[in-house]
Amino acid sequence: MRILGIDTSCDDTSAAVVEDGVRVLSSVVSSQVDLHSRFGGIVPEICSRAHVQSLIPIVDQALQKAGVSLSSLETIAVTNAPGLVGALLVGVSVAKALAFCARLPLVAINHVEAHIFAARLMDNPPGFPYICLVASGGHTSLYLSRSEIEHEHLGSTTDDAAGEAFDKIAALLKLSYPGGPAIEKKARKGNPSAVHFPRTLLGKNSLDFSFSGIKTAVLYFMKGQDGEKRGKNVRDIQRADVAASFQEAMVDVLVDKTLRAVRRTGVKRVVLGGGVACNSRLRERMREAARKRKLALYLPPPGLCLDNAAMVAGQAFYRYRSGLVDGLTLDVLPRLVRARVPPSRNEKEIDEYE
Ligand code: KG4
Ligand code: ZN
Repeated sequence: MRILGIDTSCDDTSAAVVEDGVRVLSSVVSSQVDLHSRFGGIVPEICSRAHVQSLIPIVDQALQKAGVSLSSLETIAVTNAPGLVGALLVGVSVAKALAFCARLPLVAINHVEAHIFAARLMDNPPGFPYICLVASGGHTSLYLSRSEIEHEHLGSTTDDAAGEAFDKIAALLKLSYPGGPAIEKKARKGNPSAVHFPRTLLGKNSLDFSFSGIKTAVLYFMKGQDGEKRGKNVRDIQRADVAASFQEAMVDVLVDKTLRAVRRTGVKRVVLGGGVACNSRLRERMREAARKRKLALYLPPPGLCLDNAAMVAGQAFYRYRSGLVDGLTLDVLPRLVRARVPPSRNEKEIDEYE
């Protein structure tokens, strides 16, 4: 079964064709970074307009690369939650139009669930169950995945997402957007022990995250408010040291919480997903931790960690197979953060709609 997937939840316009949930026939991503970088973050209106302009050509490219026509597809899948409302609407409207014209079923996908699923598209995919840390610009959560479509929520950020913290601190350090790769690059020249930033763990048993404290700590540090106490002038501290120290603190928390989830559930398979999972220091530290604790670790390549539509088309196969098909009345749910457990698209969704 060939499925066309569409994702416009944030600032990437993506389309992909995936066969039987596992074989990626094409995956095309058009980044809007150039449009947003001068603002230091995503401007929602610019984002929606850019999706309107590029989505149809991107869908065409995905079909061409896969060597298939619209009429030879069996399903259309689209991200309808969570994300920027205007951006999601563009993807959902185009998906509905395509499904209507080609008389194909429509399958709605939760973007976070798609990130959890993405590792299943690796050459050596993880079996089930697995613990998944999803860390991106909009989400930071831990899940216990029991199947392609069953994800038990274990914990989430109570404030900023990890990627959002990277982006904000990069702006503070006058680095480019998106901040994650810029901080990683800068950090390579810095000392990760130069400054001790707080690691907020929210109590011994919590699997939730909080990144607002570290953000404020870096802000005050840069403003020089604690410069006197440390006997140093903040301006003398290399920005590379701040970047490296910030990154180290973030990685400490992400690794610690993931290991807590392993201990809590007894599940020894660990998967990373979302843009922050591209971070090489996080990957290195997760590898070390996995080696020590004899965990099976799955680190998807960057193309599967960052936003893409292959993860959407892939997961849709399993939802379709379970009868989870949606109609043309499908709406967007911009703030539906948690993945659905058990897979259902009724009461649970309403419960978790904030
Ligand atoms: O998953 P993604 O492409 O989009 C969302 O769903 O948000 O993730 C984008 C986020 C951005 O915040 C970006 O700064 C972060 O992932 N990111 C990184 C790295 N590459 C991307 N964060 C840390 N280190 C990286 N190398
Ligand atoms: Zn994402």
